[in-house]
Amino acid sequence: MLDISEIKTIEHDVLIVGAGGAGLSAAIEASGRGMSTGIVMKSLLGKAHTVMAEGGMAAALGNVDERDHWKIHFRDTMRGGKFLNDWRMAELHAKLAPERVLLLEEWGAVFDRTKKGLINQRNFGGHRYPRLAHVGDRTGLEMIRTLQDHGIHQGIETYMECTALDILKNEKGEVCGVVCMWRETGTFIIFKAKSIILATGGGGRAWDVTANSWEYTGDGYALAYEAGAELMDLEFNQFHPTGMMWPLSVKGILVTESVRGEGGILLNSEGTRFMFNYIPDRFRSETADTQEEAARWLAGDPKARRPPELLTRDVVARAINAEVKAGRGSKHGGAYLNIATERSAEDIKKKLPSMYHQFKVLAELDITKEAMEVGPTCHYFMGGIRVDADTTMSSVPGLFACGECAAGMHGANRLGGNSLSDLLVFGYLAGKNASEFAKSKSGHSKIDEEQASKIIRNATNILNREAGANPYLLHEQLEQNMQVNVGIIRVKEELETGIERLEKLKEDYKTVKAKGSSQFNPGWHEALGLRNLLITAEAVARAAILREESRGAHTRSDFPDELKEWLNFNIISRKGLDGNMELVKVKRPVPNPELVRIAESTIEDLENEIVEERKQTNT
Ligand code: FUM
Repeated sequence: MLDISEIKTIEHDVLIVGAGGAGLSAAIEASGRGMSTGIVMKSLLGKAHTVMAEGGMAAALGNVDERDHWKIHFRDTMRGGKFLNDWRMAELHAKLAPERVLLLEEWGAVFDRTKKGLINQRNFGGHRYPRLAHVGDRTGLEMIRTLQDHGIHQGIETYMECTALDILKNEKGEVCGVVCMWRETGTFIIFKAKSIILATGGGGRAWDVTANSWEYTGDGYALAYEAGAELMDLEFNQFHPTGMMWPLSVKGILVTESVRGEGGILLNSEGTRFMFNYIPDRFRSETADTQEEAARWLAGDPKARRPPELLTRDVVARAINAEVKAGRGSKHGGAYLNIATERSAEDIKKKLPSMYHQFKVLAELDITKEAMEVGPTCHYFMGGIRVDADTTMSSVPGLFACGECAAGMHGANRLGGNSLSDLLVFGYLAGKNASEFAKSKSGHSKIDEEQASKIIRNATNILNREAGANPYLLHEQLEQNMQVNVGIIRVKEELETGIERLEKLKEDYKTVKAKGSSQFNPGWHEALGLRNLLITAEAVARAAILREESRGAHTRSDFPDELKEWLNFNIISRKGLDGNMELVKVKRPVPNPELVRIAESTIEDLENEIVEERKQTNT
């Protein structure tokens, strides 16, 4: 019998799992409210995947185009998300993003500047105005640097190279702690907490071609699922149109959308700028403004106000996919992205220093002279843990989620740049509300030893069984399966095959075996992450087969249209009483009519309304 009292215990009011932009924002808010705040991370402080978000954070600051306003940002976000976004979350995000970006500046983030000395903003897909506050193409890195600096000086406690295994609950069903494991020594530790925030990012490591780092194993989804929380809309996985294609050793690594934001164009093997051929129908009919833009695109006008390369990511990724299928792909099965013909070498090095360096070092290619080879790469989960928009609390009392691991904000497709601002806004809200929850508790709950023992046993069984499946091979099979059967373009038969293979992988996982001891054992860590990836992948595949329509990033070749009736539903996945995953279609709440009016307004009407509003308020 395991003696749980022998395991070291640390107490915090608020415990955060994940130290990316969302986790750090939440930690700063909680500790600023006087909470004893701890943050657990698998990696080292400053290494979170947020650093890979390069292009910028979207906020209607209006520094480059004064017409920008939260209402227009909100409208763009809803349209980008194909109206499946949680309306309130999109509203909160658009309203609060500017102040959170300014706060980050106050804390020391060194943004690029306009000539007037304001934070500079750049164009990105689906954003009507230049809206992305940026630091060259290293915005995520600057965000993390600033937040960690601020957080550490404010007194948050950090626990690095520490894997969260599962959540503990008290007899009332509220969360009360997390069992974790130090990656270096393999020893266990129990964090007691009055509230817990999951900020663990996504699960893109389930696919073969991915822009996600090794940490992205769906940990938050799995921890929440095992604790009884609901997951929502996992079928919406964003494939960023531009990942590196060559050499193979770097396939999938992100090529920031800023390359297109700064003027880069996409070409096929015949040298055709093919995005002009993929203008969605709605652009031709929507408003006078989009009609005009569509007319320019259709006429192949290279000086169109926004280039068609900046259509939303779902459209661009599918276009590249279609060009490859039609036999017009680049040498290694993607498309060519050329900035060399569009901008001077000096501009490229100034605005895209990381891209210049990345291609020079990893592909021996000079992007100021040659085109890059790019193709779709798994990038982001729009779905995630179902949370309340205002509080960010899940269906499990005391369990909060923010950032990529939470669902709702981005609907069926995320606009580039809305992720970093999402981390700031919802990290802040999670920190605030988790603090309120913690304050309502008089003390820490007693740890249920049976729960803790079970979590530890599940982990050590992987080491202690005599023989079994190799975790690396299982992971590879999972990646191949998701890439082939649950990829960019989906169809019933392939999804069924995908689910069958997942069932087999789940069976094999029951005997997974990591060789060696518990001390820094990568095979063991791989096997632990694999449990989470399998839960995540199953929720994706099952939701994908249930949603019989194409919307945003979820494309079904057997149901190619966006269907009105599906707009009324979210898909929820949860652990059933029999231990199996169950999925339900749930009706979405009725949105606030004022928000519907804003999102459905023509851009001309909305711009006039804002002008009038500003006259009235003298702003
Ligand atoms: O392309 C990029 O720089 C990615 C940004 C984002 O996903 O927000």
